Amino acid sequence: MPEIKSFKIRNIEINPPLILSPMAGVTDVSFRRLLKRCGGVGLTVSEFISVEGLTRSNPKSKRQMRFYAEERPFAAQIFGGQPERMRMAAEMAEQVGADILDVNCGCPAPKVVKHGGGSGLLKDHGRLETILKEIKKAITIPLTIKIRAGFYDSTINAVETAKLAEACGVEHIALHGRTKEQGYRGVANWDLVKQIKEAVKVPVSGSGDVTTIEGAFARFRDTGCDGVLIGRGAMANPWIFRQVEDVSQGREPFQPTLADKRRILLEYFDMLREDMPETPAINRMKQLAGQFTRGLQGGALFRTSLYHSHSVDEILSRIEEYFSAIESGQPYYGETGAKVEEAPVLDSCEAAA
Ligand SMILES: Cc1cc2nc3c(=O)[nH]c(=O)nc-3n(C[C@H](O)[C@H](O)[C@H](O)COP(=O)(O)O)c2cc1C
Repeated sequence: MPEIKSFKIRNIEINPPLILSPMAGVTDVSFRRLLKRCGGVGLTVSEFISVEGLTRSNPKSKRQMRFYAEERPFAAQIFGGQPERMRMAAEMAEQVGADILDVNCGCPAPKVVKHGGGSGLLKDHGRLETILKEIKKAITIPLTIKIRAGFYDSTINAVETAKLAEACGVEHIALHGRTKEQGYRGVANWDLVKQIKEAVKVPVSGSGDVTTIEGAFARFRDTGCDGVLIGRGAMANPWIFRQVEDVSQGREPFQPTLADKRRILLEYFDMLREDMPETPAINRMKQLAGQFTRGLQGGALFRTSLYHSHSVDEILSRIEEYFSAIESGQPYYGETGAKVEEAPVLDSCEAAA
């Protein structure tokens, strides 16, 4: 396996060069803390935060800006289409102590694009330039962006977007190699990451479809990128960052035991309940548990039993029953005869927008 090296966004060291990809509705403060505890995460990024909400004191947007010291380095990601609001929100991120300000140029949700934000900025370079210059004048922390390949499949312009961003003073570019038109279909184009890396001097990271240790190393090797982002793969395996780091340092990759898996689920549920009311905490728990137990013996039945649980105590009992059964080698029957039903998996920023 090749060595992977840390890199710097100005004076901020991203070590290891592995980034927890922002995911609206998923990478809230609890999920990010959980992943930092699992190890190997070099940079955490908030969910995308609406500048319209933030600058009008919307409580949800304000909550999304919170982070813990243990998450550092931490980037706050904002989205919007109005330069003035973007600048104000960027200043707010700096004031609350974020290490980096990241601009979302990738969200495909119609609600976001309609106002010129998210991936809408990919087809309006004039607006993007104004926004980046406005923000740059107002903040002293590094400004970074996360882009897509292009807006339409026929208008791929990631390299041009990256060059424009660099010229405006952006200090790190992350590319998710799908177009807005593509949404989450097909596969991410990592060749574009390589092309951007060759076209700009600032550090470049790639995003899309990394779910294994080998996959992460292949992306570094094939593109020469500085960093790799992992999103959905971290929901299925929160230790993936640590495993990549282990291998890069010549160690065997950490293999979580059933006890580790049980512990991490319980820890996550505790943090969620500290952070939000019971019902949303239960829903988020169902979502992670759903991803997390794929491939485990009896996992589908366990997910069904969680799906039918509606209180904290019920969730805790189901976790206890499930892990006790599989740890002792007993078959897990869940709710006998129940049809397999699961919480829907959030698969893009659209649901959360
Ligand atoms: C549920 C979900 C929410 C997402 N929300 C955001 C977001 O808020 N900001 C952003 O830049 N990208 C967002 N993305 C895109 C991811 O950061 C990432 O680029 C994409 O999922 C591809 O990487 P992956 O295959 O490792 O998940 C989201 C993706 C998902 C699945």
